[in-house]
Amino acid sequence: MHLTVLSRSASLHTSRRLIEAGRAQGHRVRVIDPLEVGMGLGGEAPAVYWRRRAFPRTDAVLPRFGHATQRYGLSVLKQLELLGIPALNGAAALAASRDKMRSLQLLAAAGLPVPRTVMASDPANLREMARLVGGVPVLVKLLAADGKSGVMVCESLQSLEAALEAILGLGEDIVVQQYLRGARGRDLRVLVVGGRVAAALRRRPARGRFSRTLRRGASFEAAEVPARHVEIAAEAARVFGLEVAAVDMLDLKGGPLVFEVNGTPSIREAESACGVDVAALMVARAAELARA
Ligand SMILES: Nc1ncnc2c1ncn2[C@@H]1O[C@H](COP(=O)(O)OP(=O)(O)O)[C@@H](O)[C@H]1O
Ligand SMILES: [Mg+2]
Repeated sequence: MHLTVLSRSASLHTSRRLIEAGRAQGHRVRVIDPLEVGMGLGGEAPAVYWRRRAFPRTDAVLPRFGHATQRYGLSVLKQLELLGIPALNGAAALAASRDKMRSLQLLAAAGLPVPRTVMASDPANLREMARLVGGVPVLVKLLAADGKSGVMVCESLQSLEAALEAILGLGEDIVVQQYLRGARGRDLRVLVVGGRVAAALRRRPARGRFSRTLRRGASFEAAEVPARHVEIAAEAARVFGLEVAAVDMLDLKGGPLVFEVNGTPSIREAESACGVDVAALMVARAAELARA
């Protein structure tokens, strides 16, 4: 089978792992930079080119492009889908998951538990916003148009006001969320592939830090997840229509709250902490979709 990984570079960890896993399963795997793809519409059929030639034969596509190439990358992905090529994940699902506000809306509408959240484009009604999420401290999540994100904890209404003025003044959107204290060690990431849980991790920030990313020194360990969490993770992926998803939740006493779903998760942490070959599962699912 011919698999195409849409990624800026074959040397990125997950792209490299997909190449290895694909070859191990007897497929041909090619990494194509979405920015080198041209598209045409309005003729007989949608056209797609790579480096000005016909796009190579592809039985399934695995998007791995980042936020920087998001808009064009999603168009390329959509074009391939229009040509009937199955995608892991599809453009619509990926686009929804990359929008923090849309994501929470989708999850909540499906009846999945999410943290109390408010969204606004002007800071006028600050006191009310804080009240709706249960009062300070609150977590402010920045949603920059370029996909960059960041979070900050605001302990008082004054710091919330200052943060909102600054961020909204820059023309970026924000969500204000109930700050779930004691979340340290309660951060669960469940990787779902093809509707099934492939791995589950607990993420812990480095001492004195907030960030749960590898880059910022966070640590990861394999986690046992209760059946209810498994169900919620699988349902979250299904709601988005994501074949591959990292469902991030805070595991609290009253039950888990899902705060983010990522359609192009790094698989490095899950593979090393859980000893699961996530790339192989992704390739197997892509091949399954291609055969169907
Ligand atoms: N409501 C919350 N209360 C406490 N901690 C949170 C909450 N939401 C997210 N976090 C923590 O903050 C981190 C970053 O939040 P996230 O929504 O994943 O933003 P991003 O990944 O875009 O930076 C998460 O990994 C999680 O551990
Ligand atoms: Mg996150």
